[in-house]
Amino acid sequence: MIYKKQVSKNVKKIFILIIAFCLNEVNSVEFYTEKPAFLPSCKIYEPGFTKCSTNTIQKLIDQLIIGIPEITATFGPFDPMHVKNIIFKQDSTEAASIRANLTNVFVKGFSKMKIKQSKVSKKDFSWDTKIFLPKMRMDADYTMEGKILLIPLQGKGTIFIEIENLDIYMHTIIQLYEKGGFTFDNITNINVDLNMTRVRTHLTNLFNGASKEVEDSTNKFFNDNWRDFYEALKPIIVETVEGILYDVMSKVFHLIPANFFIEDIPTSEKLYGKANTA
Ligand SMILES: *[C@@H]1O[C@H](CO)[C@@H](O)[C@H](O)[C@H]1NC(C)=O
Ligand SMILES: *[C@@H]1O[C@H](CO)[C@@H](O)[C@H](O)[C@H]1NC(C)=O
Ligand SMILES: *[C@@H]1O[C@H](CO)[C@@H](O)[C@H](O)[C@H]1NC(C)=O
Repeated sequence: MIYKKQVSKNVKKIFILIIAFCLNEVNSVEFYTEKPAFLPSCKIYEPGFTKCSTNTIQKLIDQLIIGIPEITATFGPFDPMHVKNIIFKQDSTEAASIRANLTNVFVKGFSKMKIKQSKVSKKDFSWDTKIFLPKMRMDADYTMEGKILLIPLQGKGTIFIEIENLDIYMHTIIQLYEKGGFTFDNITNINVDLNMTRVRTHLTNLFNGASKEVEDSTNKFFNDNWRDFYEALKPIIVETVEGILYDVMSKVFHLIPANFFIEDIPTSEKLYGKANTA
């Protein structure tokens, strides 16, 4: 009797597992085995590769904005985009020595992302990408203590940072690996360099709301001296942009084989030699 009960329980369990497995299979795949129609592929050993690749990466971005189900499922919507909390500690540079925690961080503007150039190295297949965003805006709740531009700050409130005409130069280091008969990019490092024409900001409840007048004049000071303000907060902003690009790009490139971007990409074995393949 007990034995029978146990068996039927197990059968039930297996049945549920099978259903769960089937649902998963229908809803999403671990990686693509067929080239998606939105993606034109290029050949790196043929002339005009950079032009072709620039167009391909733009097509990828356009599709991310429309929504790629496997990416949206784990990453969420592209614009506005919810990003991880930022815990920031900067010890005494000239311009800033602050500790700040940002929560409820939302970033807007990535749906207007333009790929200006996408170069790929034939040596190690790292990428150099030039990206333009007409506007990027970050909204968050903050707690902060320390100094920005010599102004002692201690407060808790909301912050926005809005950047106009943002040029992003992104250097991406990758490692090729094989999966299911395809070659994939594993992104191991992203570095960005930023230029912009203007930064606007506003922090509410600076100095814990002690003086509205001082709060307003401090915000005005940050906006009047936006280049210095940007330099002071540059590590936070750069880390945020790097984090966003890393998260989305690594999801994309574990999902879509590199072969669908670069038809004639060598296998990892061919590029690194047999001994080095992990
Ligand atoms: C930020 O959060 C950490 C722990 O999550 C805390 O130790 C630290 O004091 C916070 N910093 C500020 C400025 O609120
Ligand atoms: C930013 O401007 C500097 C100086 O003009 C230039 O060297 C750098 O390449 C630019 N970076 C970007 C991301 O446009
Ligand atoms: C990707 O690189 C990371 C860090 O270098 C490594 O831990 C991970 O195993 C790699 N993933 C694949 C699929 O090669």
